Amino acid sequence: MFNSQASCLAQPALLPDFDRPFGLPAFNKIEDAIQAFEGDDAIYVLYPQKIEAAAQDFVQNFPGKTLYAVKANPHPAVLKILWASGVRGYDVASIREIDLVREHCPEAELYLMHPVKSRRTIRHAYEAGVRHFAFDCAAELGKILVETNDADDLHLHLRLALPTGGSASMPLEGKYGATYHEAVELLRTARPVAAKLGICFHVGSQCMDPADYIKALSYVQGLLEKADVKLESLDCGGGFPVAYPGLTPPPMQAYFDRIQKGLDIFGLGDLEIIGEPGRALCGAGGSTLARVELRKGRDLYLNEGSYGSLFDAAQCAWKYPVKLHRSSETSDETIGFRFFGPTCDSMDVMVGPFELPEDVREEDWIEICHLGAYGQAMATDFNGFQSDTTVAILG
Ligand SMILES: Cc1ncc(COP(=O)(O)O)c(C=O)c1O
Repeated sequence: MFNSQASCLAQPALLPDFDRPFGLPAFNKIEDAIQAFEGDDAIYVLYPQKIEAAAQDFVQNFPGKTLYAVKANPHPAVLKILWASGVRGYDVASIREIDLVREHCPEAELYLMHPVKSRRTIRHAYEAGVRHFAFDCAAELGKILVETNDADDLHLHLRLALPTGGSASMPLEGKYGATYHEAVELLRTARPVAAKLGICFHVGSQCMDPADYIKALSYVQGLLEKADVKLESLDCGGGFPVAYPGLTPPPMQAYFDRIQKGLDIFGLGDLEIIGEPGRALCGAGGSTLARVELRKGRDLYLNEGSYGSLFDAAQCAWKYPVKLHRSSETSDETIGFRFFGPTCDSMDVMVGPFELPEDVREEDWIEICHLGAYGQAMATDFNGFQSDTTVAILG
């Protein structure tokens, strides 16, 4: 899926003690990677130490088991960094994600938490050793049972639709999830066919208020009372945030504390508790280096855009933190810029504004930070613009 061969990196400019931690070409600083680069595309950057720190914090302090939502960044290096940091469970959605994790983290426990899967995906997953399956309706539950030949070792997770009105920047309701009344029926239907039964929910991505998790746990408690069905697990989903300009969340510990408090208040603490973070583990540990191809006033035309790693900067108008990298001096004065991506599509625009030194010019490199989640993972090769170069920065 990804080419980490970094064929666009010149050998002579690499570190003398060049090695490939997690399979990536590594540099001490961004400037060294830029100097070694001979290609024409953007450069994706991973900071292994930042990913390690975020993962270790989550694994140690979340009151339950940590699953990594692979969709956030499926780069093999990210999977391996997380494994080395103690993450043992991986939330996958497709055959390719199953095979990718099996290849790079063969001992990982896989959870197929996509509520709607093809029959082939279910069969492939079961054969690959997956026993965790999510569902949100009777038809999907039926598919899982048929395609696993009514296996007696399934851990089934009912995905709930939460009542709307949370603080997430990207609500996920409306597409998946059983309503209250559907959930009561589905829990009763699934209980006799499940070796283990759980509930899962997602408060929405980039959740800004830890109290949303308490509200979700209160909802789960009410549902369980009504259904009168015994559960083994409760998966609190993802949604754990990363700081972006204008979107500064409370510290991660506040989320863990609220969840623990909710579990205690609502008597759910005896269940196996699961968290399914994507963004929180790798968001701050990755960035994109984009080169300025042209400047027109306050508009910068870059070699990376919304069809590359900047989808959310375009669609959600998120202002990612930015830094200018140039070998010579830059101005101390800063002004706001708008970015255009390289494709011919006029929707390929990131309005920002992104605050940069006022003398930005052609050939400068701009680092767009906190793009480790849902950045590189979303990139397409539309219009022939696609980067195959990922580097690690160790400093
Ligand atoms: C089922 C599921 N789990 C986990 C996640 C990860 O969410 P986040 O990156 O907000 O932590 C997602 C994101 O869409 C998801 O759909």
